[in-house]
Amino acid sequence: MKKQIVLLPGDGIGREIMESAKEVLQVIAEEFDHTFIFHEHAIGGAAIDAYGEPLPEETLKASEHADAILLGAVGGPKWDDQPVHNRPEQGLLKIRKSLGLFANLRPIKIIPALTHASPLKEDIVSGSDILIIRELTGGLYFGKPSERRNNGNSVVDTLSYERYEMERIIEKAFETAMTRQKHLTSVDKANVLESSRMWREIVDMKSNEYPEVTVEHVLVDAAAMKLITNPAHFDTIVTENLFGDILSDEASVIPGSLGLLPSASVREDGVGLYEPIHGSAPDIAGKGIANPLGMILSAAFMLRNSFGLDAEANEIERAVNEALEQGYHTADLQVKDGTLVSTKEMTELVVENLSTRS
Ligand code: NAI
Ligand code: MG
Repeated sequence: MKKQIVLLPGDGIGREIMESAKEVLQVIAEEFDHTFIFHEHAIGGAAIDAYGEPLPEETLKASEHADAILLGAVGGPKWDDQPVHNRPEQGLLKIRKSLGLFANLRPIKIIPALTHASPLKEDIVSGSDILIIRELTGGLYFGKPSERRNNGNSVVDTLSYERYEMERIIEKAFETAMTRQKHLTSVDKANVLESSRMWREIVDMKSNEYPEVTVEHVLVDAAAMKLITNPAHFDTIVTENLFGDILSDEASVIPGSLGLLPSASVREDGVGLYEPIHGSAPDIAGKGIANPLGMILSAAFMLRNSFGLDAEANEIERAVNEALEQGYHTADLQVKDGTLVSTKEMTELVVENLSTRS
């Protein structure tokens, strides 16, 4: 299989961990006889420094022609005094919008070797494997009007959705649930919001097309509680933009480290942008100690989700689990009696585990 992959290392530790993902992908390409062609471009603060803007035309053009995009992270104190429209994160918002990436996917999986790292009790988190699908283009964050009124004494934000925006994310959720445990939790606030009542109607209509998928409706407040008291209950969760923003951040603390979690923003044809959920970690940038596993697992997620390369993705995940089970960890992970390693060393451990597969 031949694929064009755009690499956007971005800022801070983004540059260090992108090297790790690239190395792992190169080994996978060799072992499984694929050709991955990498195109590296600037985004975020690095792009502001080189081109004067966070998303240069050249980066966008290359991304439009890519089969998938890998992103490190953007931002840092160096660009804090940039005007809002020219800040590093605008690069990320603009690329998601320009490419029509409407679905944000966040897998949250407890890695067996790290069950004890969770802030929750081991017997509660053990076995948790959740995928949160968040709508990215509609809802409160984009609704108009959004303004102060009455001399600043009233304020309005608007929660608005088009039917097609709900339909495409809900369709995506059913399709994805079919590839998992076929258990879909739709989260809304249908006891209060009209938008949630329309959402629920569409979920119920779609469920007729997917008789194998078990669907449950859960109110967002109840879902927030259940994520903490019984995360293992969930399989695939789908929800609108604001609820998804909050629930996915809540769920991301369950595994115990930011440095381990991948994410994706995708559209119908499978093209997607894959990135670890953490930021550019300016406090540790350049020290060679960042955890590369969230970035490496983002590459695995890309192989599975955009290219359909399940065996290859499983292989990377197995190699990562093995390194952790062998007791190796980066500084962000609290591991009893483990061996502390650098970004490069952790990458080499994963690569070695790949090469010695049985
Ligand atoms: P952050 O995720 O960069 O860092 C939070 C804490 O976690 C820091 O102590 C950091 O050292 C640690 N950390 C994060 N990733 C790590 C890794 N892979 N290995 C080891 N330790 C890790 O969040 P923060 O500090 O709020 O933001 C820093 C910058 O990143 C800001 O400019 C922010 O805007 C940007 N950011 C960018 C994101 C993106 O590109 N998608 C997402 C979140 C923040
Ligand atoms: Mg958020």
